[in-house]
Amino acid sequence: MTDQHGTIESHPLQNAEGAEIYPPSAEFRAQANLNDPSVYWRAAEDPEGYWAEQAQNLNWKKPFTEILDWTNPPFAKWFADGELNVAENCLDRHVAAGLGDRVAIHFEGEPGDTRSLTYAELTHEVKRAANMLTSLGVSQGDRVAIYMPMIPETIIAMLAVVRLGAAHSVVFGGFSAESLRSRIDDAEAELVITADGGYRKGRVTALKPTVDDALALHGGGSTVEKVLVVQRTKNEISMAANRDLWWHEEITAFDGEHTPQGFPAENPLFILYTSGTTGKPKGILHTSGGYLTQASTTHRNVFDLKADTDVYWCTADIGWITGHSYVVYGPLANGATQVIYEGTPETPDWGRWWSIIQKYGVTIFYTAPTAIRACMKMGRQIPEQYDLSSVRLLGSVGEPINPEAWRWYHDVIGGGVAPIVDTWWQTETGALMISPLPGITQLKPGSAQVPLPGISAAVVDDEGNPVERGQGGLLVIQRPWPSMVRGIWGDPDRFVDTYWSKFGDQYFAGDGARLDADGDVWLLGRVDDVMNVSGHRLSTAEIESALVEHHAVAESAVVGADDETTGQAVVAYVVLKTQQDILTEEDAEAALKKHVAGQIGAIARPRNIYIVTELPKTRSGKIVRRILKQLAEGKEVGDITTLADTMVMSTIQEKITATR
Ligand code: WT7
Repeated sequence: MTDQHGTIESHPLQNAEGAEIYPPSAEFRAQANLNDPSVYWRAAEDPEGYWAEQAQNLNWKKPFTEILDWTNPPFAKWFADGELNVAENCLDRHVAAGLGDRVAIHFEGEPGDTRSLTYAELTHEVKRAANMLTSLGVSQGDRVAIYMPMIPETIIAMLAVVRLGAAHSVVFGGFSAESLRSRIDDAEAELVITADGGYRKGRVTALKPTVDDALALHGGGSTVEKVLVVQRTKNEISMAANRDLWWHEEITAFDGEHTPQGFPAENPLFILYTSGTTGKPKGILHTSGGYLTQASTTHRNVFDLKADTDVYWCTADIGWITGHSYVVYGPLANGATQVIYEGTPETPDWGRWWSIIQKYGVTIFYTAPTAIRACMKMGRQIPEQYDLSSVRLLGSVGEPINPEAWRWYHDVIGGGVAPIVDTWWQTETGALMISPLPGITQLKPGSAQVPLPGISAAVVDDEGNPVERGQGGLLVIQRPWPSMVRGIWGDPDRFVDTYWSKFGDQYFAGDGARLDADGDVWLLGRVDDVMNVSGHRLSTAEIESALVEHHAVAESAVVGADDETTGQAVVAYVVLKTQQDILTEEDAEAALKKHVAGQIGAIARPRNIYIVTELPKTRSGKIVRRILKQLAEGKEVGDITTLADTMVMSTIQEKITATR
């Protein structure tokens, strides 16, 4: 393979099945944090011992003597008699080690404003914020909702909350007032931290007004007592007397003296909501010691982090798990220098990401396949205008990366040399689970490959028995891992039902997978009613219930259809109430798209809405989504003999062809 400069670069070999493989270069391997494959068998021999060793990289206020407590499965406890302060591990200890002058965060605002914070400065700001939150009554066991743009104060707020032993619930800034409110209510948050707005696509996106709307819903009464507002965009907002406070005004009263207290390893760290198969999002609970151990270990090993020289950039929003584990906790616990960027990749033009890489000399870059495909579409001539030679490692997350996108990423962004780590994990797993180790693994485009040291995953059949190589099945995790979900907030039964009722002692991830002839894992997407749109998880049931809440809608069915850029796209089939005939279909479609975005958030806006007169159902009245998915993907529709009325199909088919 030849890169744009005409030099010979790492050449893909082929494995038994004919898949391309890219062995690590001798150069990369020599300098890698992990380059001895024996790490796998050492960890497999004694996984608990392996994780206990990793946990020693953290600062414990009270050392643990227990490693794993699995006496009450599936509720795990790790390092339970130990105590630590997560914020101290991310901040103070680096300053104490003489690294206070190292840049923790290079912030790049969308309009072009920049700010760099050293570890000493970030620690100082978090201490002041912790003092401010204490004065507002925040203490161990409380929950604080955070609804913010991608700015340094978001990280400061999160770390200040956990420094006090309280837990945060970060709600992605793209979620609607309804979604925000249901998360606030479920977690019974007493404080909301937000901003007036943030910059996105060259405009101000207001956030505080959405908080106002959320708190006014359902007659207004909520658990929230105070709203703390960071000033970012200076858009006009209203401040409620006795409830709303400006961060920059309050903070002036507090100094940077704050001694971190130790909290039990199993103290709740955060709740993060994610979509499940029912309409109600699940509050995924993570705790402190095990989570931080796995987030930091995987960040160091998989991204081959050299904290004193690397400049790391993960493009995920802090509102998602990737932002929690690989923008906030993993990198900061490791003392990394990282970039955070507020805006979108196309603002002011599609060169923005590459100009940021060039400007800060980014060495490790972690993003999602959907973004890579979007950049591919714009053409390689855009990134080729920038000097990306600093890049030495690339990461991918959120969905399978198709080999074509892998090769483009490797060649155009990675100069034909940077290894790509395709990282499989979930909100529930808290940290990376299946991924290559770049100094050891022979990379195979499209496959996440092997469980990390200390993790035991398998592909099993419906009875839970491991499948042979070359076969497909369901992905399970066989043994508890340190950063595993500790429960669904307020709903222990749902936790057991969702992940453990299928196989008993094995964690059911919800993904289909195949084992290839080498024993590498290929992820095949969700096997439940969960869609993956641009690497974000959406529930078909949640969008369906949003649709039927609209007065014009009688019935709806939502499917995730393959999409070239976003992986899957939301496609809705809607039957209108008969008296709605006066609405034109175009108007109805537009109104319903807007309605879904308003109910859930812009990410849930359907790509297509098809107004139909009937939905395909079985004789017992069950909607056959499989057929609707095939139709939406323009595929041959399979067996329809189970349908009560096969005529329905031709009318829907006509509809779709007419709108194409
Ligand atoms: C689901 C989890 C955790 C990161 C962001 C998404 C899919 C995630 C990969 C990958 C194939 C992947 C799975 C998983 N997924 N990474 N590298 N290859 N599929 O977090 O919203 O909790 O979604 O994303 O289907 O179950 P999430």
